[in-house]
Amino acid sequence: GVPSTSPYVGATLTINGATIHFRVPAPLSSDQRADALLARMTQAQKLQFVAGAGGPVTNWYPLPLGASGYLPGIPDLGIPALYYVDGSLGLAYASAPSTALPSALASAASWDTDLAYKFGSVIGAETAAYGLNVNLGGNINLIGREPRDGRTFETKGEDPILAGKITAAHIRAIQDKHVIGGAKHYALNDQETGRTFADVQIDERGARESDLLAFEIALKDSKAQSVMCSYNLVNGVYSCENSHLLNDVLKKDWGFPGFVMSDWWATHSTVAAALAGLDQEQPDNPYFGGLGQAVADGRVPQSRLDDMVHRTLRAMFEVGLFDYPNTTGTIDTVADQAIAQQAEEQGAVLLKNAGGQLPLDPAAVHSIAVTGWNANVGVLSGGGSSQVFPTGAIIEGYPSLPGWSRAIWDPSSPLNAIQAMAPAATVRFANGTSASAAASLAGSSDVAIVFVAQWTSEGMDTPSLNFTDVIHAAPINQDALVATVAAANPHTIVVMENGGAQVMPWLGSVSAVLEAWFPGQRGAEAIANILFGAVNPSGKLPITFPGSVADLPHPTIAGTPNASVVFPVSYSEGYLVGYKWYDANHLTPLFPFGFGLSYTTFSLTNSYLSSSGRNFQVNVDVTNTGSVAGAEVVQVYLQLPDATGELPKRLVGWQKVFLQPGAKQSLIVDVEESDSSHPLSYWDTNSSSWQTAPGDYLVYVGNSSANLTQAGTVHVGS
Ligand code: BGC
Repeated sequence: GVPSTSPYVGATLTINGATIHFRVPAPLSSDQRADALLARMTQAQKLQFVAGAGGPVTNWYPLPLGASGYLPGIPDLGIPALYYVDGSLGLAYASAPSTALPSALASAASWDTDLAYKFGSVIGAETAAYGLNVNLGGNINLIGREPRDGRTFETKGEDPILAGKITAAHIRAIQDKHVIGGAKHYALNDQETGRTFADVQIDERGARESDLLAFEIALKDSKAQSVMCSYNLVNGVYSCENSHLLNDVLKKDWGFPGFVMSDWWATHSTVAAALAGLDQEQPDNPYFGGLGQAVADGRVPQSRLDDMVHRTLRAMFEVGLFDYPNTTGTIDTVADQAIAQQAEEQGAVLLKNAGGQLPLDPAAVHSIAVTGWNANVGVLSGGGSSQVFPTGAIIEGYPSLPGWSRAIWDPSSPLNAIQAMAPAATVRFANGTSASAAASLAGSSDVAIVFVAQWTSEGMDTPSLNFTDVIHAAPINQDALVATVAAANPHTIVVMENGGAQVMPWLGSVSAVLEAWFPGQRGAEAIANILFGAVNPSGKLPITFPGSVADLPHPTIAGTPNASVVFPVSYSEGYLVGYKWYDANHLTPLFPFGFGLSYTTFSLTNSYLSSSGRNFQVNVDVTNTGSVAGAEVVQVYLQLPDATGELPKRLVGWQKVFLQPGAKQSLIVDVEESDSSHPLSYWDTNSSSWQTAPGDYLVYVGNSSANLTQAGTVHVGS
């Protein structure tokens, strides 16, 4: 017999009715397969495997397949090359067209993890179809901490649990397509201003319960195989050589088995970075080119070099790069665009709808004025490394400058989509450069629809949260434009295309507002479906809209864009990010986290807790009390006992439910102490661990962070 501890598993075979039991070797784990390969690698091959190619040192440029990153394979050992490409909201690939999804923030605004999985599938499938195999997406910086951050649209908002679960769904979907997925930028990379010199100062509890928690959830729930460390410093140490972040938190506390790569040129040392837990320098090897010598001198142990290589090989086995080497094929444009449209339809948030202005009735509206820069041809997208290039993209800005100085409009025409929904109506267009022309068109129309757009990009933060000029090419003060149009027509509807939170000085004078984010390449069709009621909006804000920038934790962004020396950014607000900040400081936001309107109404009744203690269930009946079908997001928040010192309520769970008019459904939201989100626990700095305090936990249920009723009290014994 084979001892039960051996790597053999039982199997059976039935022949002529007789069952034969025998033992066969268990399939090797990814760790075992990685070790088997590692044992056959020379030192030179190992050293080649810890840094990307692509710069003056390795002298590889341009990279094969038009990738943004490249790790050459080792053909003698059958190890494939790695081709890295960006993609948080579609494959960001300049070499061939791909599908532009709406903002990742719109995916979060759907509060729908199944739909988020489909969103990730589009990215994964298109990446694999072009023969690329590492996705540089998964941007989960808690940028709601600084809503002016130019990359907010790539992220999933301000709440660690919502952001973590949505990002996990994206990453799982990507890895299911045999593409290595990951989360970035680890950690606390929450502003673009001076991003390579910003030294974030934050206490351990503040970090563990905010930005780090979002990473922890995303990584654990998805089994992500890579993490990208960030440009900034955290508590005085660059992230990519920060042993506390990489060794202690990521690898030890969370048990992360994959590899850590640097953000592009974010490595600052050889020995310090290697010892701190960086596994891969990207791109090029100005620092890790010296690793061979450092190992020879004994400054970096051989075991550490082996661990770096092991982690990358393991990731490759884990997502199937060896077992599924041929993924190339054609992109299913129709299916992928349908998901893009669905993601926008479920992610757009209706913020105001006075007097039931929306949905528009095509039979009753005879004339429509459409205003807005490019609203006749396209919808805006965000800039930077996540930029997707769909077929027919309209490129604008300073054409003589490289990509990031240009705005790209996805080819999806709001004017045409609106006309298609109201074929009998007279639909006229003014581009908004003349407010008086737009106002006179609005004044002679039944309704006016104004598209306001605010371009944001990696590499820069927005100076304000106002709608000023769209991009450099279109110097229109859009806040003034809206006010002028609204004065000419009381039925003015504003559709916003922007990166994150905004302020709206004209809010009181317009009848309806739809937050469309950067809506993606089927954005106009999705928006028109919502405006005319073919789709009932159900998105909920994943980020608080403040009353004014004066209410932000940092009214002024620290540092300057051209910083050349390290400067401090004090996150003294700790975990009080987003709604928690406003709650703790008794500030009323313009629109709260979790808020969004529908064309129907819902009532939440009969809420109670069906169990108590460390695992409990929140029961609530949801009824669609209006006259059209629609979806509601039922949200559960928890207030920890006073002894924890935890200030405001926190989101701990939710469910999105779709109901026909008059229909009622009983929902159960499970809250479990052991979930990756640590819903009942606080970070205890004394023991350096999550702790659940004995005491009473107040459970709230509602449909936004500011509209909650108490469902009961959970008692946790000591
Ligand atoms: C960005 C990353 C991106 C990388 C590669 C960096 O500038 O910060 O998000 O993945 O470039 O394109």
